[in-house]
Amino acid sequence: MDQIVNVNEFQELAKRALPKMYYDYYSGGAEDQHTLKENVAAFTRIMFRPRVLVDVSKIDMSTSILGYPISAPIMIAPTGSHMFAHPEGETVTAKAAAACNTIMMVSCMSSCTLEEVASSCNAVRFLQLYVFERRDVTAKVVKRAEKAGYKAIVLTVDVPKLGRREADIKNKMIAPKLRNFEGLFSTQVKPSDGSGIEAFASRALDASLKWKDMEWLRSITKLPILIKGILTREDALKAVEAGVDGIVVSNHGARQLDYSPATITVVHVVKGRIPVLLDGGVRRGTDVFKALALGAQAVLIGRPVVYGLAAKGEDGVKKVIEMLKNEFELTMALSGCPTISDITRNHVRTEDERL
Ligand code: FNR
Repeated sequence: MDQIVNVNEFQELAKRALPKMYYDYYSGGAEDQHTLKENVAAFTRIMFRPRVLVDVSKIDMSTSILGYPISAPIMIAPTGSHMFAHPEGETVTAKAAAACNTIMMVSCMSSCTLEEVASSCNAVRFLQLYVFERRDVTAKVVKRAEKAGYKAIVLTVDVPKLGRREADIKNKMIAPKLRNFEGLFSTQVKPSDGSGIEAFASRALDASLKWKDMEWLRSITKLPILIKGILTREDALKAVEAGVDGIVVSNHGARQLDYSPATITVVHVVKGRIPVLLDGGVRRGTDVFKALALGAQAVLIGRPVVYGLAAKGEDGVKKVIEMLKNEFELTMALSGCPTISDITRNHVRTEDERL
């Protein structure tokens, strides 16, 4: 472990630890994977405007999201099927989240049930939700999340249909066991020629979901609602109008619509009226700082967390989060920002501001 010095190194370790089908599932993006590369590359085009002679002898990275304190603005993104990476699945990831004092968004497509994750440790958890054609099933899952102490619902809205992930199609990726839905509706899909995940998604997800349905979701839960998958100012405004409690600027880790913009290039257009989180390509503490400078309150980490889980279990996930926190702390010091509220738009320079 001591030999691992940055988050990117976990990818190679995960590749060695995992069967090819599972590694491809975790690492892949949609079609040409252009957005997959852009999510990372776009961060490299933003430079700093560091300020000097500021007292940075004490750095405070702490912040809070929906009123829940976290040690740094770095949270765990919802990703499906952690048992492909570790036999104890999401319960392990949740323990790492608790140890790092951060929030875990648990995918409803988790390998462990949402109750099992809840009882494994005291991590603050939000439930990531897809809306299924079977609305009764969706409503039951929301009720279970409330009962199990989840603190918010994160509704993912960028998957009316599954993006074309060509590696999964080639590998005939198996449909994972979705234990949250056992006994509620059949999650078994017939063996298909392509991706088993796609076969399940096209059967189960509700592609007719629309803004009006936010009223329905609001009516079935008192929990705060975040919408994940916003990429334009227009939709951010609609989210505000719909009365949601926050948004996640996300292109689903480039797994849905290829040639969607890199999230860091659009996060500024939605700043303002409600909390904004960002995910996609965050691999360095400098990326976290850039996201905050451009308008995010916190970032979510997707692939590096599952790579850490696959390579080194709970310690791997902890190391991923801790390395990002350490890098972020150093970035704050070297930019002259002792607290989160000191980070401003003036601390970064985008490409069009170069001259
Ligand atoms: C995801 N993502 C995702 N999002 C979601 O809302 N529900 C889900 O079940 C999943 N599942 C999932 C599985 C895998 C293997 C990946 C890589 C991603 C998207 C995820 O929440 C997040 O938006 C991206 O992963 C962020 O990008 P990075 O950090 O992976 O670059």
